[in-house]
Amino acid sequence: MKYDFDKIIERRGSGAIKTDVLKEKFGRDDLTPLWVADMDFETPEFITDALKRRLEHSLYGYTSEPEEYWPTVIKWIQDHHQWKVRQEWLTFIPGIVKGIGMAINALLAKDEKVIIQPPVYHPFRLVPQGNRRDVVFNPLHENEDGTYSMDFENLEAVCDDKCRMLILSNPHNPAGIVWSRDTLERLASFCHRRGIIVISDEIHCDMALYGHKHIPFASVSDEAAACSITFGSPSKTFNIAGIVSSYAIVPSESLREKFYGWLHANELCAPPLFSPIATIAAFKDGENWRRQMLEYIEGNIDWICSFFAEFIPQVKPLKPQASFLVWLDCRALGLNHDALVDLFVNKARLALNDGETFNPGGQGFMRLNVAVPRSVLHDAMERLRKAVSDL
Ligand SMILES: Cc1ncc(COP(=O)(O)O)c(C=O)c1O
Repeated sequence: MKYDFDKIIERRGSGAIKTDVLKEKFGRDDLTPLWVADMDFETPEFITDALKRRLEHSLYGYTSEPEEYWPTVIKWIQDHHQWKVRQEWLTFIPGIVKGIGMAINALLAKDEKVIIQPPVYHPFRLVPQGNRRDVVFNPLHENEDGTYSMDFENLEAVCDDKCRMLILSNPHNPAGIVWSRDTLERLASFCHRRGIIVISDEIHCDMALYGHKHIPFASVSDEAAACSITFGSPSKTFNIAGIVSSYAIVPSESLREKFYGWLHANELCAPPLFSPIATIAAFKDGENWRRQMLEYIEGNIDWICSFFAEFIPQVKPLKPQASFLVWLDCRALGLNHDALVDLFVNKARLALNDGETFNPGGQGFMRLNVAVPRSVLHDAMERLRKAVSDL
């Protein structure tokens, strides 16, 4: 079956954050939304049909987990990432960002700190700080060619005895990095030695592009398995973030006792009715859709990369190795933060996430979500070209 990613779905009025809070966030609503990390592609029919089938039963009382829920997740991970996960390692969580907050509350003392590696997904800073924990930055090292590496020397330097957790974006949002085995092994060895729990957020893991291969952090070594909590979800890949279908994977028994014990005590690991239904449908029937979607995303990325090179060479997109977010280096435009935002929002009428959101290292960058029908992208880029040429 051939899926149609060119189809335009009107999201305004559906309550979508991407379209319906534009005015609140950007001060105007006549913008093309290329920000929030969900896709403007229709949720595939094998998921909608599964949900509809359950909806037809007109009683939505308390439900137990379907028997095939975890075996389906386990098979997906084994088939896609060659990682053998045991059922007792898994639990539902009501969202990955919430999972980070819950892990902090369950596992860290009040004076213990969290390391993050900016520029990175902003809740990695906001959630620890909101829970009154200090955040320690180990900024990614920007290489000459615009790619990034982890800075292990600086990690040694900034890490003190109070650092007890490190949050890893694997693959990395916003720079689209698929971390190498070597990097993950080094990180595991460092964190294990120092007694640091690694939260590996792998929400983008099923969207590796251009032949790159995602490596689950916990799978790289015994040390990694012993010190890590992995979070995953079908929500990004299959565009079902609103359904909330995340899960945690914890191989270490002692970590499970603490973390899952806390989750159970607070009844936070029972999935709502629709989560397992959507997850099972996605992971059982979604492979063909996933492949076609990624091919379309690669087409969009290739197209914008040539467009920028030809028409807006001052903006340099970092070609992502995974997912549908493109990190745009706009520093050669020579604009300060306000002027850069003004260019995108008021002149080009585009809503992107501005780089400063992603903490140190994000200044002068913008994050572009290319998971939109190509005609929308064409129109958006033309407007950006005109706005830049009018500067
Ligand atoms: C790296 C990363 N983690 C987590 C999330 C959100 O996950 P959830 O909706 O399960 O909290 C996002 C969404 O953009 C993300 O990019």
